[in-house]
Amino acid sequence: MNLSIRQADVSDKNIICALGVTTFCEAYFEQDESSDLANYVLESFSPAQIEAELNDTDSTFFIAELNGKAVGYAKLRENSTVDCLKNKNAVELHRIYILERAKGKGVGGELMNRCLETARAKGYETIWLGVWEENPAARKFYEKLGFVKVGELQFPYGKTVGTNAVMKMEL
Ligand SMILES: CC(C)(COP(=O)(O)OP(=O)(O)OC[C@H]1O[C@@H](n2cnc3c(N)ncnc32)[C@H](O)[C@@H]1OP(=O)(O)O)[C@@H](O)C(=O)NCCC(=O)NCCS
Repeated sequence: MNLSIRQADVSDKNIICALGVTTFCEAYFEQDESSDLANYVLESFSPAQIEAELNDTDSTFFIAELNGKAVGYAKLRENSTVDCLKNKNAVELHRIYILERAKGKGVGGELMNRCLETARAKGYETIWLGVWEENPAARKFYEKLGFVKVGELQFPYGKTVGTNAVMKMEL
């Protein structure tokens, strides 16, 4: 098994779009209404939206490749704050998603390591993320890696409002 992580650039736009749509649908297929899910992914992972994010200096994307195939991605987002971490020198882990067929093989852990290294190199002291309260598997993954819950954040989604647990780790 050959696993490598690389920083994405704008030429990876279509790979991020495809991974974004597929992994999000896989992750929330059971819980979400199909139309909410479809609307969200087509808006959030459109080529125009992802191109804009790849060109945004506040965003850093990483792609994980397993045996030469892109199987997951992560995104750090700078200058993104949350009330419970005000005045902290913190960066957000905005997304980390692995294709279903590649889960449980160490890919998420390696992507996380690269995000932590990058955050430290940029001088941040804290990394934070929001994880949906109905996603216990991801919460366990984050807890295992050392994140702790420090608050909650509401987010509008489809016809409803969801609650994310805000988790953080000192770097
Ligand atoms: C959560 C996710 C990123 C983890 O990535 P992964 O590649 O499956 O995880 P890894 O194989 O690298 O596991 C890393 C460690 O976390 C642990 N872990 C992973 N998933 C776990 C779970 N559901 N429960 C408990 N521990 C878990 C592993 O056992 C491993 O520990 P170890 O190093 O001691 O063996 C991945 O499963 C995923 O994409 N899930 C769906 C999308 C999602 O929910 N993303 C987060 C949105 S906030």
